[in-house]
Amino acid sequence: MASSLLSKTSCLSPLTLLILHFFCSSALAQKPGHLPRNEPLKFDFEPPIIGFGNEKVTHLHFYFHDIVSCPKPTAIQVARADSTNKSATGFGAIVMIDDPLTEGPEVSSKLIGRAQGIYALAAQEEVGLLMTLNYVFVEGKYKGSTLSVLGRNAVFSGVREMAIVGGGGAFRLARGYALAKTHTFNSSTGDAVVEYNVVVLHYCRT
Ligand SMILES: *[C@@H]1O[C@H](CO)[C@@H](O)[C@H](O)[C@H]1NC(C)=O
Ligand SMILES: *[C@@H]1O[C@H](CO)[C@@H](O)[C@H](O)[C@H]1NC(C)=O
Repeated sequence: MASSLLSKTSCLSPLTLLILHFFCSSALAQKPGHLPRNEPLKFDFEPPIIGFGNEKVTHLHFYFHDIVSCPKPTAIQVARADSTNKSATGFGAIVMIDDPLTEGPEVSSKLIGRAQGIYALAAQEEVGLLMTLNYVFVEGKYKGSTLSVLGRNAVFSGVREMAIVGGGGAFRLARGYALAKTHTFNSSTGDAVVEYNVVVLHYCRT
């Protein structure tokens, strides 16, 4: 079910949480069309949605599959420096990704979105990625909505944190953070499954 895959909503204090959750849920229930879903975006100016009573915190949980191995890689190196081969940390390589985001750790589990963008090996002393990408949700109540991620990802550290710097659809004006933890890394293929907990502060129409 949609709400389980992009699950928990919590708010600032328990009372506001309850109120905001109610407002947000009822707004969504009454006006499902407020999310872009499969509708074309309206170009008209829409009144700002900022203000008390329509702010919410949403928690998203999913698994990110970075598949670099053949036959169907979802992450492909598109550029590298001449010196990249000599770098123990791969410094200077740039990788384009269209990585599946799934509900469970198996790549065959339900697809809820994709991570589309670029990561670059941006550190000389360790494997440290610059992540610049969008999560594009394809399932559930955030279908058609996006979140934009910018951050540093030292992939061999336990837990990494990246910033959510914006979004579209239900996530217009979003901000938040994403926590990443490697679930599995296959050192022979380079394929990785990464578990994500994402906390997003955003707005909904009331
Ligand atoms: C770096 O390594 C790759 C694969 O091993 C090879 O195809 C490429 O020619 C090398 N590049 C340089 C600049 O040595
Ligand atoms: C790594 O991938 C190879 C090739 O798909 C597979 O045979 C191997 O079992 C995998 N190793 C782990 C630890 O999953």
